Amino acid sequence: MDHFHYKEGQLFAEEVALKDVADTYGTPTFVYSKATLERHANAYINSFETMSGLVCFSVKALSNISILKTLKKSGCGFDIVSGGELHRALLAGADPKKIIFSGVGKSKEEMVSGIEANILSFNVESQQELQRLSEVAAAMKRTASVAIRFNPNVDAGVHEFTKTGRGSDKFGVSTETTMDLAKECFKNDSLNLVGITCHIGSQIMELKGFQDAAKQALELLVELDKLNINLDFIDMGGGLGVNYVDEKTIQPYELIQCYEKIFANRNERLILEPGRSISANAGIMLTKVEYKKDSFLIADAAMNDLLRPALYDAHHNVWPVVKNKNASSVNLVGPICETGDFIAKNINIAASAGDLLAVRTVGAYGFVMSSNYNSRPRAAEIIVDKDKFYLIRKREDYSSLTALEEGLDDQI
Ligand code: LLP
Repeated sequence: MDHFHYKEGQLFAEEVALKDVADTYGTPTFVYSKATLERHANAYINSFETMSGLVCFSVKALSNISILKTLKKSGCGFDIVSGGELHRALLAGADPKKIIFSGVGKSKEEMVSGIEANILSFNVESQQELQRLSEVAAAMKRTASVAIRFNPNVDAGVHEFTKTGRGSDKFGVSTETTMDLAKECFKNDSLNLVGITCHIGSQIMELKGFQDAAKQALELLVELDKLNINLDFIDMGGGLGVNYVDEKTIQPYELIQCYEKIFANRNERLILEPGRSISANAGIMLTKVEYKKDSFLIADAAMNDLLRPALYDAHHNVWPVVKNKNASSVNLVGPICETGDFIAKNINIAASAGDLLAVRTVGAYGFVMSSNYNSRPRAAEIIVDKDKFYLIRKREDYSSLTALEEGLDDQI
């Protein structure tokens, strides 16, 4: 459930009319509802019954520092995948002991920053990475905490680009290699094995893949018991799907119940790394129609602002900010010079030049995937809290577009 709703034909975020946001800050603009973010975080946090749980919001889904602060206050930790995300999480005041560092390609510098910050765990994905982490930690005379990411070889049945748990994907290591790496950690004074982890994909609509992966995690834990290796946590990653159109979704409590059943006899903590299911439906993108031409509504937002439709052929619902009559089938496109630049195809909506539209379910993998393609400044970001709204990222301007470029003084 989210907090975007109509009152007398006008679209509101909580108690703020979205028209007021557009009038104040212009378009395109991403608008997030604080109450929705908190509600979704709590849907996870309050669902743990038998296991002690930690919810590490996946920063890649929505990384604005004000959003991270909001989620931190709700009790979330963070799943990060880069030094940049670590920087953001720390700026947001995150407890380092609630930060886990995922990703297949951590650089030495990123390892140093993570060790210096004293994070909960590096989720390691290869033998070479473990070797590097051990060398970096030894050189710093420190011990790095490690969780091994195993690849359960399950097909989560989602978009080809967002499956991550098949044997052929670049993520994690086989269960056999997981055991080898665990033994290596056990022998190595610079490494402290604290967990096992996996993540099978994103926008997942069925429990089966999660269950299969959890059963494999359990088998690994039993094998590790035999070697007297005890862990702090089992990290089952993220991946829960959300409602983009009217899909039936799994609720966080159903997922957690399923894990608690499988891990019923274990003492480890359960860590989850949800991104999309916390933030996607907490965000909309406001855009204005510039022109109408035949079946095209040409908006001021484009694929540089919201890449998902062009990249994944993803569908996002579009709602008018002020309800109108006489809807017809149209294609909402942007000003970028590519036929692939569309926001939504064949949507039924009544709109003409000057009208405001809200593109829904863009709070995850929306702003964070935006770019400056076609030298378009990035959109503004706003958070709504009850009847107030706050700018949390300024709209970029032309000077931000060229700020890092050299040679403007004709030296080159
Ligand atoms: N943990 C790890 C290790 C991940 O790689 C991801 C997402 C998550 C957690 C969070 O997954 P979520 O709960 O959000 O499904 N850009 C794509 C999604 C890419 C997901 C990448 N990894 C999209 O727009 O659909």
